[in-house]
Amino acid sequence: MQAPLPPASIFTNASGSIAMRKAGRHFLQIPGPSAVPDRILSAIAQQTIDHRGPAFAAVGQKALDGLKTIFKTDESVFIYPASGTGAWEAALVNTLSPGDHVLMFETGHFASLWKKLAEKLGLNAEFIAGDWRSGADPDQIEAHLAEDKDHRIKAVCIVHNETSTGSVSPVAAVRAAIDAAGHPALLMVDTISGLGSLDYRHDEWGVDVTVSGSQKGLMLPPGLSFNAASAKALAANKTAKLARSYWDWGEMQGPNGTGYFPYTPATNLLYGLNVAIDMLHEEGLENVFARHARHGAATRAAVRHWGLEVLCSAQGQESGVLTAVMMPEGHSADAFRASTLAHYDISLGNGLSKVADRVFRIGHLGDFNDLMLVATLGGIEMGLKKAEVPHNAGGVQAAMQLLS
Ligand SMILES: Cc1ncc(COP(=O)(O)O)c(C=O)c1O
Repeated sequence: MQAPLPPASIFTNASGSIAMRKAGRHFLQIPGPSAVPDRILSAIAQQTIDHRGPAFAAVGQKALDGLKTIFKTDESVFIYPASGTGAWEAALVNTLSPGDHVLMFETGHFASLWKKLAEKLGLNAEFIAGDWRSGADPDQIEAHLAEDKDHRIKAVCIVHNETSTGSVSPVAAVRAAIDAAGHPALLMVDTISGLGSLDYRHDEWGVDVTVSGSQKGLMLPPGLSFNAASAKALAANKTAKLARSYWDWGEMQGPNGTGYFPYTPATNLLYGLNVAIDMLHEEGLENVFARHARHGAATRAAVRHWGLEVLCSAQGQESGVLTAVMMPEGHSADAFRASTLAHYDISLGNGLSKVADRVFRIGHLGDFNDLMLVATLGGIEMGLKKAEVPHNAGGVQAAMQLLS
């Protein structure tokens, strides 16, 4: 007797009939994890090797050296077998002490989560309120630091690409603001969803700790995260008193020197990482950034043609990684997403916390090209019609105009 099919295998297809199999490929258009290219999947599928054996050193060393070229740093990079949240925690516990003040900026959901994490660790987070429609404001940061005469604040933490809103923070301008205030605070930047998609320069921008992850612009599955640390951050590590063990940079430095790790690394993800770094360089980082910027612009052209509003309202700060779109009053973004998934097999990102059900997010990052974008926007435009969301037809055409 045939085993019963799981409920997920039975669905209503686009023409309204019951089917047991969806033809074609699923479109994973959330703003990370992004679709993993076949070349990376093949690399990950290689046999796991002894992480303390002689062959591993070349794998580990290539990953550690290669990542520096992506972060654009000559300083230290640390790799954790963890999601991005782990690297957030690592950045704080490696450099700060209980009761230290940190200045954070409310760009959106992820900035708010990092603040919550800091508070759970026993830090005092000073949070500059934001409207979730733009990046961190250097002027407000400078003014806040100028008030901090006794240098109570030990770190300024910002999110480079706020994945919940699609707004990009001006990292170099925040560095300049800290310097203009004559403040010694460390600068920490979360570029979990920016690295490998948006221009990023750890050294040139004077960032002390950069936090990132594998599952967005690096085109890998979830499971790796990173810290890049400046000499100043490494010096802070020597005196920082927050409890740490698993995350301790000090434990990593010795084994990393010869390509090894103090505990079992995610060996197969490192195979994938090495291929991802090669792929980014084969395309050329500048070309990768330009491709993302172009896809962001084309997506916004479609959204505006539909008569919908882009959540990021700050000109020049719109993300090339994702576009968050506001739903018209009286329409549920989650119902729309559920409908596009059911009818067109495309996953769109949901609105998070404050903007839950009010926005949907279009991911246009990673291993992604013009035709994939046109198909993505086509799925959304068909979805708007299907879900009876008021809009002007022809958004895809507007995007194609821009792309061609
Ligand atoms: C900007 C940003 N920061 C932090 C995180 C948290 O990372 P993770 O979910 O990998 O723990 C995410 C995840 O999407 C993110 O986009």
